[in-house]
Amino acid sequence: MHIPVLTIDGPSGAGKGTVSRLVAKKLGWNYLDSGSIYRSLAIALLKQSIDLTNEAEIINVAKAMMLEFECGDELVVKLNGEDITAQLALESTGNIASIVAALPAVRQVLLQKQKDFRQLPGLVADGRDMGTVVFPDAENKVFLTASAVKRAERRYKQLIEKGIDANLIDLTNEIEERDRRDMERKAAPLAMASDALYIDSSEMTINAVIEEVLNLIH
Ligand code: DC
Repeated sequence: MHIPVLTIDGPSGAGKGTVSRLVAKKLGWNYLDSGSIYRSLAIALLKQSIDLTNEAEIINVAKAMMLEFECGDELVVKLNGEDITAQLALESTGNIASIVAALPAVRQVLLQKQKDFRQLPGLVADGRDMGTVVFPDAENKVFLTASAVKRAERRYKQLIEKGIDANLIDLTNEIEERDRRDMERKAAPLAMASDALYIDSSEMTINAVIEEVLNLIH
C-alpha cells in the first residue's frame, strides 16, 4: 500500500513546525516532528549525565529510549513515560540535539523510529533530511528557509510568549552556529533535495506559506 509523504526541510526557525502541523491538520495526515526525536535524545543524555564525547554511551541511550507522541493541538512528548514537552523547546536542548545529530551512528539508530511514522492516510515530515535521507521517495518536497535575522526574531517572540527569557543577539549567534553545524556535518547534512520546492518565508505570512505548500499537493 502506497502511503504519500510531504517532506518539509529547512533550518531552525523557518516556520517548518507551524506550517507542517497546520498542513497535516488540513490534509488529515500524520505529523512527524523529527527534530523532537533528536531533542528527546538530548534530554535523555542530560538526565543520565552522559558525557557528550562518549559516543558508545550516546548510542546506547538512543537505542534504549522509549518515546510516545501525542498529537493534539500541541505536541506532547513522553520519554520513558515522563512528559518532557516543556524541556523540548529550550535552546540548550536544540543545541545538544544538533551536536549529537552529527554522529552517523545516532542517525542510523533513529532512522527507523522516523520511518515508522509513515502511516495511512499520509505523513507530513518536518526536519533537516526528510526529503534527502529518511523519505527520499516522497512525492512532495519543500525546502523552507528564511534569513537568520528573521528566524532569530521569530524565535525570540516564541520564547518570550512561552515565558522563557531570551536575548535577540545571543539567539542570532546561536542560530547561525547551529545552521553551520547542521549544514557542514558529514552525515545527512541540512541540504535541499534536488526535487524540492524552495520557499523563502522571510517576507511571507504563515498563511501564504501554507497556501503555497497546499498548492504543491493539489
Ligand atoms: O528542528 P529542531 O530545531 O527541533 O532540531 C533540533 C536539532 O536536531 C537540529 O539542530 C539538528 C537535529 N535534527 C537533525 O539533525 N535532523 C532532523 N531531521 C531534525 C533535527
